[in-house]
Amino acid sequence: MPRSIPTLCGSITAEPFSLAVRIHTAAYQALGLDYTFVCFGVENPELAVQAIRTLGIRGMSVSMPYKAAVMPFLDEIDPAAKAIGAVNTINNQNGRLTGYNSDFIGAVRALQEATDLNGQKLALLGAGGAARAVAYGAKQAGAQVTIFNRSAERGKALAQDLGVDFGGSLHDFVATDFAILVNATSVGFRAPEVNPIAQKLHADLLVMDIAFIPVRTKLLQDAAKAGCRTIPGTRMLLHQACKQVELYTERPAPLAVMEKALLDAIEAMTHA
Ligand SMILES: NC(=O)c1ccc[n+]([C@@H]2O[C@H](COP(=O)([O-])OP(=O)(O)OC[C@H]3O[C@@H](n4cnc5c(N)ncnc54)[C@H](OP(=O)(O)O)[C@@H]3O)[C@@H](O)[C@H]2O)c1
Repeated sequence: MPRSIPTLCGSITAEPFSLAVRIHTAAYQALGLDYTFVCFGVENPELAVQAIRTLGIRGMSVSMPYKAAVMPFLDEIDPAAKAIGAVNTINNQNGRLTGYNSDFIGAVRALQEATDLNGQKLALLGAGGAARAVAYGAKQAGAQVTIFNRSAERGKALAQDLGVDFGGSLHDFVATDFAILVNATSVGFRAPEVNPIAQKLHADLLVMDIAFIPVRTKLLQDAAKAGCRTIPGTRMLLHQACKQVELYTERPAPLAVMEKALLDAIEAMTHA
């Protein structure tokens, strides 16, 4: 396989975004590895995958809108990524490209830090790509998942596809029916005044918002006021990046260093 000096890792996306660069760079520095991570804004995902082979890029994260588009060009897809229908991580091992989905691992690790998911009733708001990864992971971990989504058609299709329940629109969510609430809609992302749900939460609910800018979204602030335990979206983002570092380096990821880099970068972005 072609090799570069330093070892190159990266991210492909339509619009380059620096968060992954900061998190991964901090990880490789802490591990003492001569790796460089670059975010490529690309227009053609097929040629981007070809470039991984041509240049011997060790690992490549994949962001929207290319998470499904890269799949036909890989040598192998991990079964979980196949079930989710999205690849956000390409691992290049001796020229063989395998696609993984570390979003679902990030979501499950973030939730499991706070609770055992097995047998718990989990309400999931949203039915887009991220919700799909959360629903898959939560179900695998034993949670009873119910999806609520603005578009009933999309919500029902996702629920049917993954073998979970569909509960209706966001207005149909009743907090007392659940132990865990996860917001995987894009509502609240970069919108610090917006909460996707209107109703009051109960103190026994564990609430995760996967939106990560701002770190404390309006939903999380309202949940904390109601006495709920909360998990910010940065925790999912962090754990999914840790899984990527583990794949690309075959070493444990330096979580604390990566978390500091992530939170510092968001702080700098939101105060720029
Ligand atoms: N923390 C992490 O690691 C992580 C990872 C991936 C994504 N994310 C975040 O997750 C969020 C969703 O990403 P995605 O890729 O799944 O996006 P997506 O595929 O575009 O899906 C967006 C979802 O939000 C819903 N939605 C959008 N506007 C709404 C509104 N005004 N009212 C109610 N529902 C609305 C959509 O409902 P309809 O189906 O009705 O349109 C859909 O369910 C984004 O904020 C993204 O930044 C976080």
